[in-house]
Amino acid sequence: MGKEIINIGLLGCGNVGSGVVNILSNNGAEIEGKIKTSLKIKKVLVRSLDKERPAGLEGVQLVTDAQEIITDPDIQIVVEVIGGVDRAKEFIKGALKNGKYVVTANKDLLAQHGRELFQLAQENGVSIFYEASVGGGIPIIRPLKHCLAANKILKIMGIINGTTNYILTQMTTLEMSYADALKEAQEKGFAEQDPSSDVLGKDAAYKLAILASLAFNASIEMDSIYTEGIDKVTLRDIRYAEELGYKLKLLAIGDREEEGIVLRVHPTLIPQNHPLAAVNYEFNAIFFEGDAVGEIMLYGRGAGQMPTGSAVVADIIEVARLINHQVDSDIMEVEFAPKPIKPLSSYKSKFYLRLKAIDQPGVFANLSSIFGEEKVSLDMIIQKRKVEDTAEIVLVTHHIVEENFFKAIEKIEALPAIKEISQIIRVENKE
Ligand code: HSE
Repeated sequence: MGKEIINIGLLGCGNVGSGVVNILSNNGAEIEGKIKTSLKIKKVLVRSLDKERPAGLEGVQLVTDAQEIITDPDIQIVVEVIGGVDRAKEFIKGALKNGKYVVTANKDLLAQHGRELFQLAQENGVSIFYEASVGGGIPIIRPLKHCLAANKILKIMGIINGTTNYILTQMTTLEMSYADALKEAQEKGFAEQDPSSDVLGKDAAYKLAILASLAFNASIEMDSIYTEGIDKVTLRDIRYAEELGYKLKLLAIGDREEEGIVLRVHPTLIPQNHPLAAVNYEFNAIFFEGDAVGEIMLYGRGAGQMPTGSAVVADIIEVARLINHQVDSDIMEVEFAPKPIKPLSSYKSKFYLRLKAIDQPGVFANLSSIFGEEKVSLDMIIQKRKVEDTAEIVLVTHHIVEENFFKAIEKIEALPAIKEISQIIRVENKE
């Protein structure tokens, strides 16, 4: 016979925390019917007791000291939704040492300190659940751990940052500039007042580290992920990409190659008929290729109070079932070992290049001969427009080793007729 009541301590009651309270209060009876256990929020850590009590927390004890939750013998599950790294880490360590199961949405923390925390969980006979850390409400961690476990995952490609996807969608559909689209995303509450983690690709890189560790059974260091944001993307490139049959997206990509794993986050041109090209606004989607299942894509809301709350509560339910022996133990991340990482410089990519040159005879010939010397094969090259004596040239290469492409770029930059290398964007397109 399992426990009739399982007590939860909630660390933080902001956006995601309120979603958790809301779902447990609206759907508590339904959940109890499924797992034959009542899930009860016993204590909530808040910043100040003077602030108004969030709805759904009637009768719940509010505390301002996390220790009151971490050391409470009646609390079995600690839910960390305060975000940030240092305090969250300290609280989670405290909870694990006290034998509590932990549920967290904190991708920054797990991507940087996951190994240490999973180790501590194992030493204390408990586990950490983190479905909400990637893709908000999209089921992604558990499908990777369980439903796709039979596969060797060959590739992950994800739109896993809603803020940047919203900005790129507005630029594409309304022809907004990057600056205007970012301002609008901030006004609508999608982008933070300091949007740097989103627009510079860091948020997506943290999430990729978590996905890649599960997909490739590997312990991933953040510095093995090449990271480039969308801050240099222009409307002109989005328009040219559309003319060439591509959509521009910020993708987080993991490839399993023979020599090692390649991990990267960067603006990417994808064919307009790729399923990820249809993922717009703040939506997220993660596309996998498994050797058995083939191609699969999961789509939904990657952020927000209720979608993220949905994933957190699902984890709470899973822990409750574990405590009550309705399910067995989970996959142990602590056993993931470092795997060889293949540097992006030796990876074969396809590139989009936009440059400005003096409009004079021989420019195309010079470009072709430099690319030829570096074994860069061209897919297409066109002159887009001319302003006074300056021509704008766009070209797309075939798949070539990155190192060779950048050697060619160095030589091109040194040509007297070249005024500017205006843009370089990687293209994902199977040959
Ligand atoms: N800032 C993230 C995004 C949500 O825009 O997708 C939290 O991970």
